[in-house]
Amino acid sequence: MSETAQLKIGDKTYDLPVIEGSEGEKAIDISKLRDQTGYVTLDIGYKNTGATQSAITFLDGELGILKYRGYPIEQLAAKSSFIEVAYLLIYGELPTEEQLKAFNFDLSHHTLVHEDMKKFFDGFPSKSHPMGQLSSLVCSLSAFYPESLKQNQTPEELNLSIIKVLAKMPTIVSWIYKKSLGHPYIYPQNKYDYVTNFLNMTFGQRTEVVDIDPVIVSAMNTLLILHADHEQNCSTSTVRIVGSSASNIYASVSAGISALWGPLHGGANQEVIEMLQKIQEDGGDTDKWIAKAKDKNDPFRLMGFGHRVYKNFDPRAKIIKKACDDILEKLGIDDEVLEIAKKLEEVALKDPYFIERKLYPNVDFYSGIIYRALGFPTDMFTVLFALGRLPGWIAQWKEMKEHKEPIGRPRQIYTGATNRDYVDIKNR
Ligand code: CMC
Repeated sequence: MSETAQLKIGDKTYDLPVIEGSEGEKAIDISKLRDQTGYVTLDIGYKNTGATQSAITFLDGELGILKYRGYPIEQLAAKSSFIEVAYLLIYGELPTEEQLKAFNFDLSHHTLVHEDMKKFFDGFPSKSHPMGQLSSLVCSLSAFYPESLKQNQTPEELNLSIIKVLAKMPTIVSWIYKKSLGHPYIYPQNKYDYVTNFLNMTFGQRTEVVDIDPVIVSAMNTLLILHADHEQNCSTSTVRIVGSSASNIYASVSAGISALWGPLHGGANQEVIEMLQKIQEDGGDTDKWIAKAKDKNDPFRLMGFGHRVYKNFDPRAKIIKKACDDILEKLGIDDEVLEIAKKLEEVALKDPYFIERKLYPNVDFYSGIIYRALGFPTDMFTVLFALGRLPGWIAQWKEMKEHKEPIGRPRQIYTGATNRDYVDIKNR
């Protein structure tokens, strides 16, 4: 017999079904609660709310486990490429050689953005934040591809929109960067793979870069893989909820980009480097900054530390920390902020404040140091996170559609004024 949970309200007892996931996670199904009892649940910040049943990513925050479609993140980061992982997330299986070839072919034939879009790049002030530009530009793709607005698209039509957004995003990101420098845009070239093409459009001069260091290509692949999906986080939940109103994929992804921008989410990678630089300029006294992070009267938080789900360690941070050492060594870079980051981590991990609250370095703590070593300016860091997270957003959006999930619409407990009579403005 399947398990049930019992809820007692007053003298009435209600049986609620228990759902079990494939990794043994359990949930009490309250989808009929209001109809049965008149009550709703209250869970601000959704700390205990499962918003969906998903077969894409599994993570165990207590054990520090992260798997995409059942494959451990450690294996994917070591052996796979970003585009192979994107295929896995979106279509559910690792591609065969032929499928990967066809996927790369499709992607490389949709990398161009409409020439009229260049006017948008020109319209932004050169110092405007890349995340604001990215969100607007991705949403504007819906104007160029109005077929994406059509309801009841065939699977082929839907797939074409997926290919388009995935293929065009690197072009948009690198052009945002070129615009910030006042340099000419570099067009995508079909001969390159996805990541090399992106690096060429970003760092190439005029037509093409002579040589892209394989260390840089490999580091970029690793970082993008580690960011590719993370189940129902803030931006992914945003993408699913926007998509649940039957919005098109460009609008849904654009909303995800806006959600990612915040410093408590993807924006933390920019904040971390700015924090480390500030500590460095301030003389490098890590104890002083740890004390500030612990002081409840001080708004300062140790950026890149803590996570809603990971309460032991963030497996992505473990891989990135090692990658950071390797990449800096291979590129012959000696970055003092890396030493400050390591010292901060060492001090924090011994401090009861951080131990009691289970605060550990997250994915953003070391990623910025690598981005910096690769030559990206700090305000591009969150855009790179978005580039990595894109296949996850797409996969989750597609799954939400395939499951025919209803429109997302939470309830609330109203705490405002009850009945009041309108008062004329002169009498207020
Ligand atoms: N520095 C100092 N104290 C912290 C920190 C931190 N980075 N993070 C959490 N705390 C304290 C917090 O003050 C609270 O203390 P108390 O119980 O005494 O009030 C306790 O730890 C629990 O924190 P919370 O804010 O209730 O936890 P949350 O699950 O709501 O927030 C978080 C998670 C990631 C937003 C938060 O840890 C944080 O703000 N970290 C810094 C920003 C950051 O690095 N974000 C990137 C997250 S990973 C990338 C991604 O996937 O988005």
